Amino acid sequence: MSTREDVRRWDVEHVWHPFSQMAEYAETEPLVVVRAEGRTLIDDGGRRLFDATSALWCNLFGHRVPEIDAAVADQLGRVAHSTLLGATHPPAAELARRLVEVAPPGLTHVFFSDDGATAVEAALKIAFQHRLLTRGPAAASRATYLSFENAYHGDTLGAAAVGGVALFHETLRPLLMPAIKVASPYCYRCPIGRTPDDCPLHRAEQVEEALARAEGNVCAVVLEPGVQAAAGMLVHPEGFLTRVAESCRRHGALLVLDEVATGFGRTGTLFACQREGVTPDLLCLAKGLTGGYLPLAATLATDAVYRVFLGRYEEYRHFFHGHTYTGNPLGCAAALATLRLLDAETLAGVDRKAALLREALAPLAAHPHVGEVRQIGLMCGVELVRDRASRAPFAPGERVGYRLCLSLRDRGVYIRPLGDVIVLMPALNSTDDELRHLSGALRAALGERFGA
Ligand SMILES: Cc1ncc(COP(=O)(O)O)c(C=O)c1O
Repeated sequence: MSTREDVRRWDVEHVWHPFSQMAEYAETEPLVVVRAEGRTLIDDGGRRLFDATSALWCNLFGHRVPEIDAAVADQLGRVAHSTLLGATHPPAAELARRLVEVAPPGLTHVFFSDDGATAVEAALKIAFQHRLLTRGPAAASRATYLSFENAYHGDTLGAAAVGGVALFHETLRPLLMPAIKVASPYCYRCPIGRTPDDCPLHRAEQVEEALARAEGNVCAVVLEPGVQAAAGMLVHPEGFLTRVAESCRRHGALLVLDEVATGFGRTGTLFACQREGVTPDLLCLAKGLTGGYLPLAATLATDAVYRVFLGRYEEYRHFFHGHTYTGNPLGCAAALATLRLLDAETLAGVDRKAALLREALAPLAAHPHVGEVRQIGLMCGVELVRDRASRAPFAPGERVGYRLCLSLRDRGVYIRPLGDVIVLMPALNSTDDELRHLSGALRAALGERFGA
């Protein structure tokens, strides 16, 4: 049995943490989570922290949810893993059926994988092969993708190629396949200096123009609908998604929507694209799919896309792609239990809680170092700035967001910031008191840090 000190030592000596400067990590007190109750994490010293990140945006109903625990335990008593390569199992078939029932109409086929990035990767390859199968090798050799600045779709090379967060993706640029990038509407820092009422980006004109310039060579447009989460919760204007979808249809590009972050009720509807009644050709899901229990992802496709891949064996039209743990039965069982919990009442609760959180966070907007508070449903970003008038950011070395979040731990809240954007994504069943505590703690931490 390892001691508390063993774990801390072995962690620093051997674990290479994702998205972490390990020199800095080794110098700070690690958060060692040993248990959880509901939305509360409990560390190795018995400290209790409200998890405002939902275990990095995937936990929907907190931890040790009796219904999900029971579903996973029941499946464990049958079979923990069995392949989907040429075989199947009840949880995968039932989950595929259930996803098709709740997804936007027209998405009838489900390709399982393991993470958000793998769901996107599958969509990118499906879109390319669809182009090859429908238009032939010459057209496929010219095929490209269109995606957005500030977008984040995961860290595999394909997903990174359609990403647009400079800090994450520029280092790899020589390795990434070329993709057309267009500006996204980030009103607080508008890249073309317009106001929201008079902004061509709001009207998705850049998408229409880029597709026209590409003369039919874009096989897919890839978009996070409603909000670019990892960019710091950049909320898109209403109607933007609809206009992008219209441009895709006009120019013969498939629409790939990445709902890895926004899916499963975070924005108040089961999927964000349902807010505008848009059905994509391919829909990428992960994170909340299993309620935050197990790695499982899905890429949903329309019948029209799926049928293109059908043919005689020797035509080799199949989708040559897959992962060992694809459609893992334990993950599928967790997902089925999660979907049973995501009923209309839960979704209506998200709207009410989002309103409560909005009201509780409202006083922050006046703080001299808060540039903007952005929110859609229970996804929020509080952007900190050095100077409100000029919107000048803090120097990265000041580590303002990071330090603020460290101090929040002393107030019983765990948050992982994105640079100087404090990102809140509490679980859908957070109580009113937990949400008030979260916003109160944030206000107090800001007051302590800046004295205002
Ligand atoms: C919109 C979006 N797509 C894809 C991903 C990648 O998901 P994963 O980390 O599970 O690969 C993320 C992760 O934050 C995301 O927010």
